Amino acid sequence: MKIIGTGSAVPEHIVDNNMLSQILDTSDEWITTRTGIQRRHIMSNEYLIDLAIEASRNAIAMSGVNPKEIDFIICSNVASNYVTPALSTIVEGAVGCECPCIDLNGACAGFIYALDYADAYFVSRGARNILVVCAEEPTRFVNWKQRENCVLFGDGAGAVVLTRGNNLLASRLRSISNKEVITYRRRLERTPYETEGVNVDEPLIMNGREVFRMAVTASQQDLMHVLEHAGVAPQDVKYYMLHQANQRIIDSIQEHMHLPQKKFPSIIAEYGNTSSASIPIMMDLMNRKGELHDGDLIALSAFGAGFVSAAALLRWAK
Ligand code: COA
Repeated sequence: MKIIGTGSAVPEHIVDNNMLSQILDTSDEWITTRTGIQRRHIMSNEYLIDLAIEASRNAIAMSGVNPKEIDFIICSNVASNYVTPALSTIVEGAVGCECPCIDLNGACAGFIYALDYADAYFVSRGARNILVVCAEEPTRFVNWKQRENCVLFGDGAGAVVLTRGNNLLASRLRSISNKEVITYRRRLERTPYETEGVNVDEPLIMNGREVFRMAVTASQQDLMHVLEHAGVAPQDVKYYMLHQANQRIIDSIQEHMHLPQKKFPSIIAEYGNTSSASIPIMMDLMNRKGELHDGDLIALSAFGAGFVSAAALLRWAK
């Protein structure tokens, strides 16, 4: 597969750290030094599905592909207002596609999981084009009284259109079952038969330090795996596009890999952690600025609840 179009969309409302310090016992200084985040876009009067549709439309327009020639849609989403139908099916109707659709929950690694599935679908089904859209609203998972979590997140959507090609040079998907490090549980409709305590509503719970440690370790291992598999030297990669969770995680991976900072682009200061949308949003911003060129090697790496992690090595080509 290869990427021929990118798109993104974020909520209008921008919340900076000083605005958070008016409603929480926190400060710009704490958030900036611990995370690198200065601002984030937060859902107010939007619906996530509208951002998913806008990002998809932008990616399709850039690709020049007729929506009727898109043969599969994958939407990466952790949770939204819609439990069913899948967000991908709503995007399908809105952008004028007629094809199979599926949502996947690969947590913050969902974009790379979706690219890997899409690549397999080109081979197994002979698809012509595939739309991958990542749409996330993690600011609606957190307890807004828990300062350690709510300051980290932002909302948004990023999309890519893929066509046939051999530009996915290597990928790696992993999961180490551990629901203690990040969990978000929602209550479903009550039945007369349920046992007390089974059906709970619980905002996102996270062991930040453990996630930090696991993320740095997993990301380096995954990146080295795909580089070795493809026979590519670390310094030959133009950009390492890492999941935008915390600038200190990105810096730590960069330092452990002994590579220059300019190879590790970052949008975390302006967007916060937008879960699986973080890499495709960054990819779209860089693409539209003309920073991605034919032949560039691009490594992706992400990690999240599960504990899942994933990496991929791509050759950029229009
Ligand atoms: N503002 C001010 N103080 C805060 C705060 C906030 N928003 N959140 C926590 N604190 C306080 C804590 O209460 C603690 O105070 P204490 O020392 O008096 O007990 C202190 O800051 C240190 O907290 P700690 O949790 O040890 O900070 P940390 O340096 O580990 O940073 C994270 C916390 C969450 C920023 C960091 O662990 C992290 O980024 N982890 C990864 C999270 C992540 O990326 N998750 C998504 C994965 S997809």
